[in-house]
Amino acid sequence: MKTESINLLASSQKQMNGCIEVPGDKSISHRAIIISSIAKGETQIDHYLNSTDVHASIRACRAIGARIEQNDDSLVINGNDRSRSSGKDIELNFGNSGTSMRLMMGVLSAQNFSSVLEGDSSLNQRPMNRVSQPLIKMNADIITTDDTPPVHIAPVKKIKNVNHSEDVASAQIKSSILLAGLYGDDTFTIKTPPSRDHTEIMLGEFGCKISKDLESITMTPSELLSPGQIDVPGDISSAAFFIVGAILSKDGQVTINNVGLNPLRTGFIKILIMMGANIVITENRKINGELVGNLTAKSSKLYGVDVPKHLIASSIDELPLIVLAGSQADGKTSVRNAEELRVKESDRISSMIKMMQAFGISVDEYDDGMNIYGGTITGSTINSFGDHRIAMTALLASLVSDGDVLVQDCKNIDTSFPSFIKVANNIGMDIKEHA
Ligand code: S3P
Repeated sequence: MKTESINLLASSQKQMNGCIEVPGDKSISHRAIIISSIAKGETQIDHYLNSTDVHASIRACRAIGARIEQNDDSLVINGNDRSRSSGKDIELNFGNSGTSMRLMMGVLSAQNFSSVLEGDSSLNQRPMNRVSQPLIKMNADIITTDDTPPVHIAPVKKIKNVNHSEDVASAQIKSSILLAGLYGDDTFTIKTPPSRDHTEIMLGEFGCKISKDLESITMTPSELLSPGQIDVPGDISSAAFFIVGAILSKDGQVTINNVGLNPLRTGFIKILIMMGANIVITENRKINGELVGNLTAKSSKLYGVDVPKHLIASSIDELPLIVLAGSQADGKTSVRNAEELRVKESDRISSMIKMMQAFGISVDEYDDGMNIYGGTITGSTINSFGDHRIAMTALLASLVSDGDVLVQDCKNIDTSFPSFIKVANNIGMDIKEHA
């Protein structure tokens, strides 16, 4: 079923059971495509995420001269070997994809042609100076429009690598700097709080000299040599919906195989276990430098917790699900230090507050998060604010609601998880298009 319809109706269901795989990781797919596109040689990328966000990276990389053969489940990319010339100035539309735009800002700011970067109405409101400012210190010539897209990037003679210190725990900011730094000459260091390290891992797979400890990354620019083939693990952020679904539903049990388990992405699992969740991880292995494994989640009795600050960055995309889990826990769950949620595909603090209130759950709102008090979810109509993760979280609430849940504006589920409805319905949900 396509998610082109704006509204989806999830009937009140009490069970989720099954063994599944989820589509390829979105963050890793972007990096595999972008880094293969500026590397030397041919790379086959298997199990990439074939979604509209990832298509934005494919379009951008074709525009800078990479040759990309696109199949349903694999890509074959012939990179441009860090060539700085596309033969023309380019205009790119990144749709809803903040990751694609921000990572490509790093690459595009090192070129000898100009580019203009725009997005859809959500992306066009998201902050870009956090990325352009460090790049400008590296010699890049970038102008944003009041901190937002369109972003105008002019040709540059040469990127200059300098050390950076960054306060925001953002993988997109550091990745953009690292990608620009590939076009400079000198070794440089970025000091930054920990965030997902897929760029560092992928650059290592392409032979780049990169080392890191908890709070800093040091890179020496070098030629990037294709490793030949990359396997993208299942997206833990997509798996998260079914992990929480199994935990919340009565007699639920879901196993997810071949899913990415990078420790900088699995903070939500630690939070759920703190809340009392029954989650077991088996058969860990490393594929292309990334930890991959199988995971089983079962129905569990949950208790409210104060989410620790150090787990916020590694659970940032799953915090809406922690809020939903909190609504089904005994007592109060507190999610604070999460102001970054305000600048995601929607203001996710505001979106989740409105969702919980529509469901009849008590909440307190703060600038940097919220408290959620366990209660009963009443079947209701929810606005997803065009945000894929908010839409899927609201649909999942039908597993615990006392009536059907109608979710408006669901098209953007296609940005990260086009097969969500099919997978969810196969393991016990009942989601249909609704007028
Ligand atoms: C992402 C980084 C995170 C995350 C986003 C994907 C990435 O954003 O929320 O969905 O792939 O680098 P920030 O870098 O802004 O934290």
